[in-house]
Amino acid sequence: EKGGFDSFMDKEIHDQPHAVADTLLGRTDAAGNLVLDDLRIDESVLRAVNKIIVIACGTAAYSGHVAKYAIEHWCRIPVEVELAHEFRYRDPIVDERTLVVAVTQSGETMDTLMAVRHAREQGAKVVSIVNTHGSTIPRESDAVLYTHAGPEIAVASTKAFLAQITAAYLLGLYLAQLRGNKFPDEIASLLDDLRDMPRKIQTVIERGEYVRATARSMSDCDKVLFLGRHVGFPVALEGALKLKELAYIHAEGFAAGELKHGPIALIDEGQPVFVVVPSPRGRDSLHSKVVSNIQEIRARGAHTLVIAEDGDDEVRKYADEVFWIPKAPTLLQPLLAVVPLQIFAMALATAKGLDVDQPRNLAKSVTVE
Ligand code: BG6
Repeated sequence: EKGGFDSFMDKEIHDQPHAVADTLLGRTDAAGNLVLDDLRIDESVLRAVNKIIVIACGTAAYSGHVAKYAIEHWCRIPVEVELAHEFRYRDPIVDERTLVVAVTQSGETMDTLMAVRHAREQGAKVVSIVNTHGSTIPRESDAVLYTHAGPEIAVASTKAFLAQITAAYLLGLYLAQLRGNKFPDEIASLLDDLRDMPRKIQTVIERGEYVRATARSMSDCDKVLFLGRHVGFPVALEGALKLKELAYIHAEGFAAGELKHGPIALIDEGQPVFVVVPSPRGRDSLHSKVVSNIQEIRARGAHTLVIAEDGDDEVRKYADEVFWIPKAPTLLQPLLAVVPLQIFAMALATAKGLDVDQPRNLAKSVTVE
């Protein structure tokens, strides 16, 4: 069943190019327009949406956090991302013009289900992004957009995360198309970029041995920090979550811009810090800001492990280790940047002799509140 891999997690990491490709399959018509057949919500309702709230838990919530950057950019609709268990209990402002997007691999997470019910009672339409057919949350939603990642067995989510980002991006592009925020050729070109991602994800997986070797050499570390900015921020949060779940190491993700407002006090000699570096070709000089962060923490003794785009010579000068990923548009970089972090957590847990498929105290699907 593990297809020759040591663990389901390893297999599922290797499934990721397929998970993304299959989630993209069959979403355009002959004219190249994006069609989401399963999204049975009246177009007039979708045109009138003035706020999106993504509700989810754990890794699924981080996929929503990534999608927020893309959907706001493409559609100019404000997007909030809310942990499902917080959403319900804070009297959220939800009405008929709110689109709630519930993201869940299992489709059974009780916190997310309760939030879906609450949102619908307030008159919101709910689209769920779900991996498991026949599960409860899609049944209780107005519409469902399935991720086609295939069954995910390992407790720590990997391929479902990439498929969730992909599906949420499709939803964002569909709304942009419907509401006229983007020209058809812009949508087509963004879809082409997305369709190019499975090949690039495969490249990152093929470079995994260097990540594994690095993880094995660090099996005695007890605290790891992760920094990222823009879409790299939720990637940092996800990298930290993977390490907590699998290796039982205290790990924390921060927005890189927040460093000087507190977390830099944590840095001392030898402290491992992962940094997700934005593309040097991206907007707003984010790249140089993150490179400065690397210099700042290194000057204070940090051991810097950097995820950077092929050809980023600037980073090479300042990082202790670089995990290279292929070039991609900024908004798509998370689909690549998270992969070395998944492999790192898996390899480090394995080096510690832990069961990566079945971490202690965790369940694949939490069907109680
Ligand atoms: C946790 C799982 O309990 O639930 C995580 O261990 C997962 O991997 C989270 O991200 C949310 O689950 P789901 O099924 O709603 O995506």
